[in-house]
Amino acid sequence: MDARLAGRVALITGAASGIGKATAARLAAEGAAVLVTDIQVELGEETVAELVEGGARAAFLRHDVTSEEDWQAAVEAAVADLGGLDILVNNAGMGDLKTIEDTTLEEWDRTVAVDQTGVFLGMKLAAPALLRSGHGSIVNISSIFGTSGGFGTSPAYHAAKGAVRTLTKNAALHWATEGIRVNSIHPGFIITPILDSAKGTPFWDAMTALTPMGHLGDPADIAAGVAYLASDDARFVTGLELYIDGGYMAR
Ligand code: NAI
Repeated sequence: MDARLAGRVALITGAASGIGKATAARLAAEGAAVLVTDIQVELGEETVAELVEGGARAAFLRHDVTSEEDWQAAVEAAVADLGGLDILVNNAGMGDLKTIEDTTLEEWDRTVAVDQTGVFLGMKLAAPALLRSGHGSIVNISSIFGTSGGFGTSPAYHAAKGAVRTLTKNAALHWATEGIRVNSIHPGFIITPILDSAKGTPFWDAMTALTPMGHLGDPADIAAGVAYLASDDARFVTGLELYIDGGYMAR
């Protein structure tokens, strides 16, 4: 594979698992040094060990995306230990399957804090380093549920992912002439631990039935999109919402 990202440094949140882990592997394979961050320490360290074994430059940091102090430390670690920051992937996320009546205010606040406020904090705190890069790229992982009403459940998740979609475009315009591109990716149903709670429920079969290609996606499918948006191949691309969803949104 071309070293499209040689010399670049990427910070990927929620990279101990699923899409974030696959993204760390893909960006490293394309030559980037990677700061893997997550609240799952053991799995995050395992991810980094695998990357280093494969010849990559990589480090792990425990980082809760709802904490401004943690964000400050993560950006400082990228700059001090890996030499700068060129790529930010706001991937950490969580969800639920409840209805609006069953969702408590506490659950709503938690989901919004992780899925929405975490993205705001990341872009705000990483901006100075990304501006210094001169070719900064931010990729925010939203969802098909950031645009569609899905199953009519998970209200906080939908609200937060929808906010990420427009926040992405807003930031893209703000930095359009400053050397930071900002894009969102909207995955369809991808087989990762986040879908574990749907196993054995009617949602699982519904997810396959609602995907025109007839099967769920792989984390690597999303990682390929992140690599494109992070690279100079996408140098004229900003404010894009990229659907990688087996055709879900084409209906
Ligand atoms: P996952 O559960 O495998 O990975 C999410 C990671 O985020 C976990 O490692 C978790 O520890 C981390 N995380 C959770 N809260 C955090 C916090 N406060 N601070 C830092 N890290 C935290 O799930 P998956 O599927 O890989 O999810 C990645 C992103 O993709 C999420 O934003 C999710 O909403 C989004 N997505 C996933 C879809 C799917 O079908 N799997 C569909 C659409 C979007």
